Amino acid sequence: MNSKPAPSNDTQQDFSALPKHVAIIMDGNGRWAKKRLLNRIKGHEKGADAVRAIVEASRELGISYLTLYAFSTENWQRPQAEIDALMVLLKRFLMSEQKELIKNGIRLNAVGELDRLPDGVQEALRETMASTVQNHDMVLNLALSYGGRPEILKAVREIAHEVRRGELNPDQITEALFSDHLYTRQIPDPELLIRTSGEMRVSNFLLWQIAYTELIITPTLWPDFTREEFIEILRTYQQRDRRFGRTDD
Ligand code: IPE
Ligand code: IPE
Ligand code: MG
Repeated sequence: MNSKPAPSNDTQQDFSALPKHVAIIMDGNGRWAKKRLLNRIKGHEKGADAVRAIVEASRELGISYLTLYAFSTENWQRPQAEIDALMVLLKRFLMSEQKELIKNGIRLNAVGELDRLPDGVQEALRETMASTVQNHDMVLNLALSYGGRPEILKAVREIAHEVRRGELNPDQITEALFSDHLYTRQIPDPELLIRTSGEMRVSNFLLWQIAYTELIITPTLWPDFTREEFIEILRTYQQRDRRFGRTDD
């Protein structure tokens, strides 16, 4: 990752200690709408604005990878009308943001069971990924139809096939080899996981990858999440003592 833009001067951030990879569980769109007696879909629409703001802030701050949990494998169990609306929004977001991503040097990547997405969304994804493939300032990684357990099972299946074909000896199955079979193979593990809307759970997100990730949960509902709060959370992250099982000294 080179040619980082100069950090904006609205913060006293220590830019050397920023996480390379931030993952976010964008939760609370439905509750945001409910509080206002609006349809849940309105919450998802407002949530898309927060996505734009946080993508822009991440890129300006110099974060290399931003992974956003936008739709889980479990979310397929929601009412069809909500799923349909989310898919329309997703496609609209991809089409409308393409220019902005290109302009800002952001490469789009997607992880999850993408073949379950409607054809139109798959097409928009392919097009946006292809048109941003040359970009190197940041990776925007969308988790779509994503579940951590299905991802792990997919890796196990692939590895089992390699062993059966005699291409791999079971003793060669290391953490690095396993990671190489995940959707995130090209992406380092996140140093920081943020969840909005206060729920104290990981909801099947990046189960393997968050083994030593710092977790920060805010009660703010996703549509209300701002650049300012994001920066505040990054400051909190910087004050954490990451020991990785060792002692302080
Ligand atoms: C997160 O908001 C967006 C998706 C899961 C797609 P929710 O829709 O889960 O909102 P709440 O949790 O019901 O408030
Ligand atoms: C997690 O939120 C999934 C996404 C943000 C895409 P959910 O609202 O689906 O998770 P639960 O139901 O609170 O676990
Ligand atoms: Mg939710």
